[in-house]
Amino acid sequence: MTSFRPAPAWLADAVFYQIYPQSFADSDGDGIGDFNGITEHLDHLSWLGVNTVWINPCFVSPFRDAGYDIADYLTIAPRYGTDDDLAKLVDEAGRRGIRVLLDLVAGHTSDAHPWFTAAAHDPDDHRYIWAPEGRPAGFVESPGPRPGSYLPNFFAFQPALNFGYARPDPAEPWRQPVDAEGPRANRRALRTIMDHWLRLGVAGFRVDMASSLVKDDPEKSETAGIWRELRHWLDGAHPEVVLLSEWGDPEVAVPAGFHTDFFLHFGGPSNGLALRSLWSNRSGTVDEAWDPLDCFFDAEGKGSPLPFVEAWQRASTALGSSGFISLPTANHDFSRLNCGPRTAEQLPAAFVFQLTWPTLPAVYYGDEIGMRYIPDLPDREGSVLGPRYNRAGSRTPMQWDDTKNAGFSTSDEPYLPVDPSPDRPTVAAQRADETSLLHLVRRLVALRTGTPELGPGGSVEVLNSGYPFVYLRGGRYLVVVNPQRNAASCPYGATHATRPLETTGVRIADGTITASGFGYGVFDLGR
Ligand code: BGC
Repeated sequence: MTSFRPAPAWLADAVFYQIYPQSFADSDGDGIGDFNGITEHLDHLSWLGVNTVWINPCFVSPFRDAGYDIADYLTIAPRYGTDDDLAKLVDEAGRRGIRVLLDLVAGHTSDAHPWFTAAAHDPDDHRYIWAPEGRPAGFVESPGPRPGSYLPNFFAFQPALNFGYARPDPAEPWRQPVDAEGPRANRRALRTIMDHWLRLGVAGFRVDMASSLVKDDPEKSETAGIWRELRHWLDGAHPEVVLLSEWGDPEVAVPAGFHTDFFLHFGGPSNGLALRSLWSNRSGTVDEAWDPLDCFFDAEGKGSPLPFVEAWQRASTALGSSGFISLPTANHDFSRLNCGPRTAEQLPAAFVFQLTWPTLPAVYYGDEIGMRYIPDLPDREGSVLGPRYNRAGSRTPMQWDDTKNAGFSTSDEPYLPVDPSPDRPTVAAQRADETSLLHLVRRLVALRTGTPELGPGGSVEVLNSGYPFVYLRGGRYLVVVNPQRNAASCPYGATHATRPLETTGVRIADGTITASGFGYGVFDLGR
């Protein structure tokens, strides 16, 4: 296996916080969030204790897929501000010990990108994957004078950049080798884009659809080759930055050069479902089979943490010290933690689990106050992918306080409607209440970042893999999580004293751990 420079030391202590910029804070009253809005709220992030922010794409775009359809990689979308505003955000964040990652959309552009317009006029242009005639399966008809059709990567208006095919075939001329002229130009372009923003001071990138580059690459070996090349370049030119992939398979993504990869909701046991009880299905596909999954966080107690624990164990053993697994609470594509009538009470236990498990936690904006997933919203910027897959519900405005639009914007037309519920949570109300979820999350983040045993490098020993879920970190910190509504207990052999660091409803006595419904606890065994 190719060896890389070890990940920068700061990554092991990272607590990520994802900002969907449209919805975080609108400083100029146009209804859409912006960089200055984020900068104005950095004190919230600093108070919360998160130290690495990642921001969804913020570049020039027609915004038919919320900015994942880029028309100019090197220019900030005016609605978010200017290069100077981003530089100020990075600088102000840095003063608070917070790093900023941008989103690198590597596999496709918007069909409004000048590269695509040029390609649609020029049969000798190979930046995209273009069938000279006809329309092979999955291709989209040429919009320009150039005949034939092109391959999209996600929506039809997101043409796939040409990084070649793992199995080229001269009989199908669009299946070019990975070292053909078009793929080489695109690899160079990725480096130019990354270098451009790294020079402004960002600390790396979350990489969109990172596994999608080379086509017909079942083992992903050719796609990995591209990322390995980029990682070697970064190791030399920008050794302090990180690449965080949206791949969903750390065992493949980390050897491919990523410093860390998300466990994502793409189906299979590694999909982060330990944190979910609703709005996920078994196959990971979005279809009529969509139904609740009996995951560990099922409030009725039908789940088991084992599929998750085993998937984590496998990936973690394969990775060793070569990289990290990241575990998000949610993201802009999938439902928030608080996504159903049964989930609100589970949030404290879910955060105790997420912030004490040996993965890198990523908090999706608003999850720290338990913002709700809002069902049935109309489409905004490509958010609705089908009747059962509505991403808008996870993208509603951040709820800061009780003023207009929950303090998100003074506009009469906010980007998406604010949660209409009269008792919607807000940052202001929860800051004033030390028993709130927000305060709990803050204390847990502080506990984690101040306790190396709770980080990704500390050992974990599962002591009970049912309800309650019980594990020991670093041979010293006992974690008890009972995400179901009923009380649960399990035997506990140790007799030494336990100092509670954070607990609600957990009792350790007479060789038994008893946890009330939705109870949780972190204890210091002091060994
Ligand atoms: C992003 C989505 C986006 C898609 C196409 C992803 O996986 O997270 O929001 O629609 O890539 O770019």
